Amino acid sequence: MVTIKSAEEIELMRRANIIVRDALDLVGREIKAGMTTAQVDKLVFEYISSCGAKPSFLGYEGYPASACVSINEEVVHGIPSPRRFIEEGDIVSVDVGSVYKGYNGDAARTFMIGRVSEEKQRLTAVTRQCFFEGIKVLKEGARLGDLGWAIQSYAESNGFSVVRALVGHGIGTDMHEDPSVPNYGTPGRGMRLRAGMTIAIEPMINAGTFDVKVLKDGWTVVTRDGRPSAHYENTVVVTKDGCEILSL
Ligand code: MF3
Ligand code: CO
Repeated sequence: MVTIKSAEEIELMRRANIIVRDALDLVGREIKAGMTTAQVDKLVFEYISSCGAKPSFLGYEGYPASACVSINEEVVHGIPSPRRFIEEGDIVSVDVGSVYKGYNGDAARTFMIGRVSEEKQRLTAVTRQCFFEGIKVLKEGARLGDLGWAIQSYAESNGFSVVRALVGHGIGTDMHEDPSVPNYGTPGRGMRLRAGMTIAIEPMINAGTFDVKVLKDGWTVVTRDGRPSAHYENTVVVTKDGCEILSL
């Protein structure tokens, strides 16, 4: 069921998303080569807790951490580990969610560690821009296919591919609500968006093919060809003539 949020609900979602944004900004200042992915997770857990909010990923369908930390060919849902070290030249996607007074925030960034290859730099920048290309078409009455196509066409015209197996989502009192929000689509098709709908838009873009698989840990999604992938996500509320980004 797709819900339209009231002004009061949107205000609570602003709060939840500002906490997520600030946790990611903190990670961006602290992350460096030699750190473990568990240390990144600890920063996120402690920051969200200090705000009087709860990390929404922790315990979600058995997920064991507060952040997803996904390096290079890992697309999303990398499980933090005290044995996994971040290295110079890596791109590291960090995905964070919080619940504040019953409402969810969800966002992700990809960080470049020291000097990274030109391909990884371009992939990281294009993935971020995919989000901004997508929201250019957002407003009341726009269709999900318009949004998906805006993202897909930008990624593909830059020589990259869009992951199909995972999509964005509605968000509110649940982290994952209807509708599904694919990063691909056909203009003029799909559900019409209405003002007050809150959605998480999260392009996952691969340098090679769009094919992915899940590792034996049951969570970590990796590219099938082993080439790098990047992720960028914000929660937005659709408005009459555009949208408001809640997690920036
Ligand atoms: N943040 C992810 C999303 O955007 C979900 C994380 S899965 C979890 O949909 F298990 F880690 F919570
Ligand atoms: Co999400």
